[in-house]
Formats: sequence, C-alpha cells, structure tokens
Amino acid sequence: MTKTIETDKPKYYITTPIYYPSANLHIGHTYCTVMADAMARFKRLCGYDVMFLTGTDEHGQKIQRVAAEAGVTPQAYVDRIVSGVKELWATMEISYDDFIRTTEPRHTARVREIFRRLRKAGDIYKGTYEGWYCVQCESYFTDTQLVDGNCPDCGRPVERAKEDSYFFKLSNYQDRLLDLLEREDPPFLAPEARRKEMVAFVKQGLEDLSISRGAFDWGIPVPGEEKQVIYVWLDALTNYVTALGWPSEFSDEADAAACQGDGSAPAAPLFDRYWPADVHLVGKEIVRFHSVIWPALLMSADIPLPKQVLGHGWLLLDGGKISKSRGNIVDPVVLIERYGVDALKYFLLREYTFGQDGQYTNEVMLNRINGDLANDLGNLLSRTCGMAEKYFEGKVARPEEWPQTPDTADLELRSLAVAVAEKAETQMEQFAFNHALDEIWTLVSASNKYIDDTAPWALAKDEKQRGRLEAVLYHLAESLRILSVLIHPFMHHSSEEMRRQLGLLSREQAATGDPDADGVVWADAKTFGIEGAYHMTKGEALFPRIDVEKEIAALETLGAADAKNPV
Ligand code: MSP
Repeated sequence: MTKTIETDKPKYYITTPIYYPSANLHIGHTYCTVMADAMARFKRLCGYDVMFLTGTDEHGQKIQRVAAEAGVTPQAYVDRIVSGVKELWATMEISYDDFIRTTEPRHTARVREIFRRLRKAGDIYKGTYEGWYCVQCESYFTDTQLVDGNCPDCGRPVERAKEDSYFFKLSNYQDRLLDLLEREDPPFLAPEARRKEMVAFVKQGLEDLSISRGAFDWGIPVPGEEKQVIYVWLDALTNYVTALGWPSEFSDEADAAACQGDGSAPAAPLFDRYWPADVHLVGKEIVRFHSVIWPALLMSADIPLPKQVLGHGWLLLDGGKISKSRGNIVDPVVLIERYGVDALKYFLLREYTFGQDGQYTNEVMLNRINGDLANDLGNLLSRTCGMAEKYFEGKVARPEEWPQTPDTADLELRSLAVAVAEKAETQMEQFAFNHALDEIWTLVSASNKYIDDTAPWALAKDEKQRGRLEAVLYHLAESLRILSVLIHPFMHHSSEEMRRQLGLLSREQAATGDPDADGVVWADAKTFGIEGAYHMTKGEALFPRIDVEKEIAALETLGAADAKNPV
C-alpha cells in the first residue's frame, strides 16, 4: 500500500466490487472498473486526495469447487487468476490506490476481529439454517424469493441446504435501514429505481442472516469455532474498511500479530482519513448486499455509514448478461490489443447510460471509435496541427488585441468552450459519464464547424488575412487544449498526445523540470486564451480509422475460438 495522504486537499474514497477470481474477468467487470477509474481520475484533476480501492473476493464454495475441478488448491487457483486480474488492470491503466485480496492476512485477521465485535454487540447467535442455496451467488433464498424455482439473482438452479450456523440479527436494523433507504436528498442508494426496490424489500420484513458455513472450509475461520467459516459476503463487504486498516486494535494476539509487518500499517490514519466511503460503485445484482446487509453490519460495529451506494446496469450480449459460464464473454485484452486502451474506455463510458442495461456489440463499438474518435476528435487535431505547420511552421501566437475581437464565430467558440467544463462536471456528479462526454463533444463539433466556417485555406490565399488566419488557428489550439483537459479522466493517453502535438508538454516539462509532468488541472479547462505561443507539430493520427467490416469478421473468429476455451 503506497497511498500517501494529502491532507491539504478534500478527500474522495471510491470503491469497486471485489471480483470473484473464479475465472478471468470479462468486459462486464471492466465496465465497472473503468467507470470508477474515470471518476477517480476526474476527482484527482479537480484537486481531491483520492483513495480508489479494488480487489478480489477469494473465498467461498464456488472457488473451492472450481479449484478442485482444476486439480489445484484454492490458493493456487486464485493466485493464478488474480495475477491475470492485476495484469488486466495494468494493461487498462486502472489508477487504483490499493488492491485488496481477501486471502491477505491484513484482511482475514481484521474480519475475525469484526466478527468478535458483532458478537460483542449482541448481534450474533447460533441456530440452524435451511433454505435454497445458490452456489454461484453464495446466497440462501426463501421459497418466495426464487424466480421459477431458480436463483433470483443469476437465474441458475438452487440447492436445498440445511446447516448449523451463526446468525446476524439483521432484523434488529429493519427500522434504521428503512429510514436510511427512504432518505431522498441525497439518497443513500441510487438510481431511484434501485432505491424503490430496496425500500420495498426491507418493508417486506428482514430475516436474520446466516453468517457462517460448516459445509466447506475455504474461508476465514469463525473465532472460537474453527470448523465454521465466515459467510463470504460478510468477509467480502468488510474489505472496504479492512483495506483502510480498520480495526487497528485487536482483542486477539494471534490476529494482531497476523497484521504486523504485512505492509498495512500505519492503519488507523487511512481509516480516519478516508472513511466513510464517498461511493461504493456496484452492479445492480449486488445492491441488496451493499444497501441492506453492509449498513446493518456497520451499524452493529458502530462505524459510520458510507455516503452512497450506486448500482449500475449490466452489459448484455444477445439479450443476456455477459458471463463466463454462459460462454459469451468478450475479452477486454483482445479489444485493447486491437484498438487501444483509450478507445475501449471511451466506448464503455460513452455508449451506456448509468444504471441501465445496455447491449454490447462489436459493430456499435467500432462505429463509435471511427465516428467520435478517429473522425471528430482525431481529425480536429490533425487538421489544426497540419494547418499550423503549413502556414506558420507550427508557431501560432495569441492575437495582440486579445481578448477583444469583432468576429462572432470566435466569440461563439470561446463562450461554448469555457462553459463545457462546468456542464461536464454536473454530469459527472451524477455518474452520467455518457452525458459528460456528450457535453465535451459539443466542443469537438463546434471546433470542426469553426474550421468549416472560417475556411482557413481561403484565408491563407490572401496575405492581408495573415493575422486573421493566425487568430483562427490560435482559437483552434485553445479549443484543443481545453479538450485535452476535458478528456483526460477518460483517455489520458490521447490527452497527452494532444498536448504533445500542441507543444504543451514540452512547455510544462520545461517549467517544472519534471519529465513526467503533464500538469493537467481540471480548472484549466475553464479559461480560454492562455498567453504565449503554441508550437504545434502534426503527429500520428490519434485514432487510426478502422475497417469496420473486416474487424467485425476478425472479432467473430476470435470470439468463436474463445467460447471453445472459456478459461
Ligand atoms: N465478489 C462479489 C462482490 C463482492 S463486493 C464486496 C461479486 N463478484 S463478481 O465477480 O461477480 O463481480 C460482480 C460485479 O462485476 C458486478 O457487480 C458488476 O459491477 C460487474 N459485472 C459483472 N458482469 C457484468 C456485466 N455483464 N455487466 C456489467 N457489470 C458486470 O459479485
């Protein structure tokens, strides 16, 4: 854990679900992580001290089963998958600050301590549990919860199961949970449809929750009863605080010792600094765990509640949820190799509406890349830098009479450009990534239209218009500079490449002496007309044009090969 606390800034703590390493991750997991990454990067640009947590949820019967099928120990199994997950996030340049694995001692020891605290609070008792169990979701369901006799969350068959178990008195928290979920401004849970669903769920009455299992042993042993393991959802949900080093005091020496020297100290400062989480970003199928069970556990342990749980929709393929077991996976690594990290991130954030399900198709993705990125943004950059080189050897200065200019096209472009950042911010606050990008693309379109309207190639024919021509190119360079800031949270490579071609990178590096300085600050998108001169160099196309039909055929061939060999 290398997170440095920056106390001079406001804090922002965002989490993704910790994913099951039962198989390699697919584009659905990538979708959630990319949203969290974009938000973390956006908040950093806005001056926040961001803590962005992700990780893996490694215990439970499902993992034990798949490991046995693969003929390896559960630990060896998850180690292999988790190294792939970390590689995927490295390839996608996910800017997480910590990655927690639930098999790490810093987590397991703390989960046991949390169990003791819940017991001390009088919320744990021993009983027998009988119900319908879904191995995939690690959940028990009652008769009425089943849908057509199957798991209501994933649709798979369930098993009748009965066992001795410890229970958590979830029913004790019914009233407080209802108050919490009924809160509307700001809502604890959003979007609204999810909130209503959960209010109705809690109103039906909450049953106590079975929180230990004796039927398998791949889990964290219950303190004092080592034949039982702690229910995987209790184990998993607590990652959001154990990663911050909570609790930092132990009533058991062995557990205290297990946390020493594992890199998680100093513990309490992280918790004091970042908790409560600002947002737990989760898929809609696990909203119930995060908005009912998790707050109840926190209430029992006397920990403040997270500020918000946000449930996003699913990516669907041929109408069904993308999942490894359906064999309809889309491998993000393949897409990145072919089109680059930025294109994939852009597509995921631009195409789907937060909270709703959306169809994934290769065709829609490829058309987005071609249309929005290669044509609209890429051409704007290459046309501008190309003209700057052709007419001014790349050097374009701010007009002397700045900021006055009689030309309405200039004024329109300026007033649009300086307003975009705030509009995008408003959308980002709602996690409406697609609308934030829509706002940003209004500037891309307006800038392209500005080129058509001002027709620099015609101005270039008249020596008397040289000043006007330079002013036009300066306006375009400014638009592109602003765009390079605005797209930074979503596509930082393209942002950097734009700044390189505009000649901004070398300027910033020279100013700071730091070769890595990209110097991007969100507020820079709110002024038009920086002083000094641009020195532009036309570089490679930001996004090469794709032959859509050829690529669709190639992806289909690869997809067919994948389906035969799903892990
Ligand atoms: N381990 C639990 C979460 C514990 S959090 C304390 C889990 N893991 S999971 O591997 O199944 O990942 C679930 C999450 O992955 C979803 O909540 C969602 O964020 C993401 N997605 C998995 N498939 C998805 C789609 N097809 N579409 C969109 N997101 C999807 O549940």
